Amino acid sequence: MFSLPNNVTLIEVGPRDGLQNEKNQIPTHIKLSFIRALQLAGIEEMEVTSFVSPKWVPQMADAADIMQQIKNKGRQIVLTPNAKGIEKAKEAHAKSMAVFVGVSDTFNQKNINRTTEESVNSLRPLILQLKQEGYFVRACISTAFHCPYEGSIELEKTLDLCRQFSDMNVDELSVADTDGMANPAMSYDLFLALREQFPKQLLTAHFHDTRKLGLTNIYAALQAGVDRFDTSAGGLGGCPFAPGATGNVATEDVLYLLQSLNIETGLNMNAICQAVEIVEPYLSRPIETAMYQQFKREGHIC
Ligand code: HMG
Ligand code: MG
Repeated sequence: MFSLPNNVTLIEVGPRDGLQNEKNQIPTHIKLSFIRALQLAGIEEMEVTSFVSPKWVPQMADAADIMQQIKNKGRQIVLTPNAKGIEKAKEAHAKSMAVFVGVSDTFNQKNINRTTEESVNSLRPLILQLKQEGYFVRACISTAFHCPYEGSIELEKTLDLCRQFSDMNVDELSVADTDGMANPAMSYDLFLALREQFPKQLLTAHFHDTRKLGLTNIYAALQAGVDRFDTSAGGLGGCPFAPGATGNVATEDVLYLLQSLNIETGLNMNAICQAVEIVEPYLSRPIETAMYQQFKREGHIC
């Protein structure tokens, strides 16, 4: 067991994972205000939008407008599923790209219309090219624990897919519990194995909070040596092609956990909640995270 880190990085995925499954079309200027408020709260790494097919994910159709108007700060990541997405992201002057592949073939088919193997084979030359051209490449590994269609995923299968991307020299692996079915023992085992097998790899854990085990899964991953987590302000999110999955574990609730453990993040709790306040009126559901509720009751969090 690793000792807990002194510092943790939270990679904000609210503007992308958080909003992609939202039924109401959020105005572009509100997304930009949300992103700006998150930057002002101290976020240094953020998934800001996706260059995916607008027929598949209509909410992300304004990706080029977002990129044109966004204020530069830290690492701004865009999701790119294929060559076309990468081309559009380059035209929009993105410098950090995230590719995404499921360990589960069925999920991968539903999400990007390819088998896992087809995806890996078509992404390999694209990633090598991006790396040669100096882009930051993040590989998101979906259904690392469980698939909404196939059920449990063997740990070895996840390690094998991670190895393939690590061999492509991606800058970061973000390993995801897509439908929020992991538990702390599963989180500890997988992240310890990843930490041991890829000691030099920038490694991030991405938990959805379907069964409200997100915080305990994060605590287990911290003990396995992980110090980077994808989180979503307001606990928004979910993949449209992972039925039953709810939002990502909430940035403000993870921040509270980390503060209680004296772990530094550089983030301001009130400012994160103020960012949530910007987007909440446009959402189809209320925000019920513990820290945002307290912020709304008291106007601030000490
Ligand atoms: P396809 O239908 O197989 O694509 O979809 P295609 O290559 O056959 O092209 C069909 C049409 O789409 C063509 O246009 C292409 O030009 C266009 P047409 O000739 O019919 O007018 N097209 C595109 N348009 C814009 N941007 C593109 C693009 N590519 C093709 N990049 C495709 C394949 C990958 C496009 C589609 O399946 C897709 O967009 N999927 C995205 C799904 C998605 O965004 N899922 C959510 C993100 S992943 C996630 O949330 C998980 C994560 O959070 C981690 C976790 O929690 O697990 C990261
Ligand atoms: Mg996700």
